[in-house]
Amino acid sequence: MSKANILIVEDDPLQRKLIKENLEREDYAVFEASSGREALDIIDVHPMDIAVVDFKLDGETGISVIVDILKRNPLVTPLMVTAFANIENAVEAIKKGAYDYIVKPIDFAKFLLVIARALERQRLKREISLLQDSLAEKFSAKNFVFNSSRMEEVAFLVSKAAKSGATVLISGETGAGKDFVARTIHFSSKRKEGPYLAVNIPSLPETLIESELFGAEKGSFTGAYERKTGKFEAASGGTLFLDEIGDLPLQLQVKLLRFLQEKEFYRLGSSKPLKSDVRIVAATNRDLDLLMKEEKFRPDLYYRLNVIHIHVPPLRERKEDIPPLVDHFIRKYSEKEGKNIEEISAEAMNTLLKYSFPGNIRELENIVERAAVFCDGKAITSTDLPVFIKEMSEDELVEEGLPLKDRVKALEVREIKRALLESGLVKSKAARALGITERMLSYKIKIYKIPADIKH
Ligand SMILES: Nc1ncnc2c1ncn2[C@@H]1O[C@H](COP(=O)(O)OP(=O)(O)OP(=O)(O)O)[C@@H](O)[C@H]1O
Ligand SMILES: [Mg+2]
Repeated sequence: MSKANILIVEDDPLQRKLIKENLEREDYAVFEASSGREALDIIDVHPMDIAVVDFKLDGETGISVIVDILKRNPLVTPLMVTAFANIENAVEAIKKGAYDYIVKPIDFAKFLLVIARALERQRLKREISLLQDSLAEKFSAKNFVFNSSRMEEVAFLVSKAAKSGATVLISGETGAGKDFVARTIHFSSKRKEGPYLAVNIPSLPETLIESELFGAEKGSFTGAYERKTGKFEAASGGTLFLDEIGDLPLQLQVKLLRFLQEKEFYRLGSSKPLKSDVRIVAATNRDLDLLMKEEKFRPDLYYRLNVIHIHVPPLRERKEDIPPLVDHFIRKYSEKEGKNIEEISAEAMNTLLKYSFPGNIRELENIVERAAVFCDGKAITSTDLPVFIKEMSEDELVEEGLPLKDRVKALEVREIKRALLESGLVKSKAARALGITERMLSYKIKIYKIPADIKH
């Protein structure tokens, strides 16, 4: 059984620290939030067992936070912390779904008993629940939207990966769904009750990556005022998602390799080996073969990570997935915007089917969200779509009545635009895709007056 996850929602850092220390001594995995917003963000990605919510938060009451938490994930057991003078509030909190309340100043012996009792109830609640609205459900294979055989293959690999504990390497362009695949693997695996932690490597300063991943002893580097638990340790019993693994510095690649081989790691500043039962899922949108040729990525690490390789194809190579994804996002954003949008016009769908989606599913999702904001009726129409997408398809409509020479020109312009978009506006790449020299491409861009920023 993995450690119970407990979330503390408290805006006073000292009080939060005190509660955290007491819970960690009992070996619970503790998460911290200083506001309702932060609490919901955490609940969205970690299956939480208990939420300890302070009544008096900055600008909001703990009661509304509890209500929001339960809406998000009804499987969490909330507890209210309140000052002695405010017992009515505690009663109100219980009416709204809190399981119990704790009076300040906290008597920790009693507090830990309440936690143990809440966990017991939590276990029963989980067992009887059909998991219908739970987080696991949100990322279950059922919510994996696709129609194409390419994605069927991906879904098959996801289910294989979920059943095994092997390390997984996910590759794919930006926005193609790498995160989504990683979460689906976690929440369909037997680790689903454990934590799912993600580290986006390029977002960390190079000097902090090691302590963030492996932890650090107090005083091991300037600024390490107290012992820091690393993500490898915190994700024990669950899954650690290493996003953009191609950016991991070489000396840390050695340490990650060591962990994958021996299941052991060291905190920064310590020579004591630690163990963690964590499953590694790594992702990259860079070409690791190329990085290996340039000696920026270790081949031995590559082979260790690549036990199961899942490539998420770009959306333009699986256009059959566009209609079901549009449907899925219409339902999501129609509800979010409080509208009654049910469908998309055939013309608007055709426009989408012709577009190349350099930003993949994320871009499609943004387009549908924006359309839902603009749409007043029951169906999204072409006028709700961004202008640059329509332009790319309108070219084709005008062409039909024109002389051959102009039609050839229109075709050339369209293909050049498409190649530029698909290559992320990198001319050398676009030229290669078109089978012409870069000089020829520059020449054509000039004579056809194709704007540098062709999205607008
Ligand atoms: N099969 C799918 N069904 C439904 N939604 C999906 C699917 N795949 C991806 N999405 C949604 O598309 C968006 C982009 O996916 P995700 O964040 O996983 O992309 P990514 O490959 O990790 O991108 P990046 O390289 O930029 O990190 C997310 O909002 C995700 O929920
Ligand atoms: Mg991602």
